[in-house]
Amino acid sequence: MENKSEEKGITRRGFFQRILVGFGLIISAGATGAIASQLLKSLMPSGWFGEPYVYRKVYAAPITEINQVGASIIFEDKANNRKAILINNGGNIQAFSLVCTHLGCQVFWEKERGKFLCPCHTAVFAADGSVESGPPEKSLDQYPVEIKDGLVYISFREPTWQPEQYFRGEGL
Ligand code: FES
Repeated sequence: MENKSEEKGITRRGFFQRILVGFGLIISAGATGAIASQLLKSLMPSGWFGEPYVYRKVYAAPITEINQVGASIIFEDKANNRKAILINNGGNIQAFSLVCTHLGCQVFWEKERGKFLCPCHTAVFAADGSVESGPPEKSLDQYPVEIKDGLVYISFREPTWQPEQYFRGEGL
């Protein structure tokens, strides 16, 4: 005696074959996706899929220029068009971006008050870069500092690759 599915033209064997084909298609689709993803990764710059930033260490100044409490030095990295300020905060050497986090004006360090001031919309940042008053919602960017053999280095966070490197065929 035939069961209902066989009556409708589907045998038990046909039914299982269809299930197996369905599983096969799902597994093939997964494998194809994995291969395509690996292929795409090999073609794209590494920064697209890995850690998008690296820290680039740049020599800033000899420690003798900043070893007095309250001293500050503006460091200009002309090659990369950026500035930072090194401050001796109670013996702790710290580096901050001079770019105001509101609309990008340049802040300045007022040693007497021990604060950063932004002239554009009168923002005040504390010596640790946090916002004290004014419109900014974010603290000043702070950069890691390293002192080695009497020299101070600042580490700037940068993308692992630049779009123009991709088009020049570098950094892939
Ligand atoms: S840009 Fe600095 S407070 Fe507006």
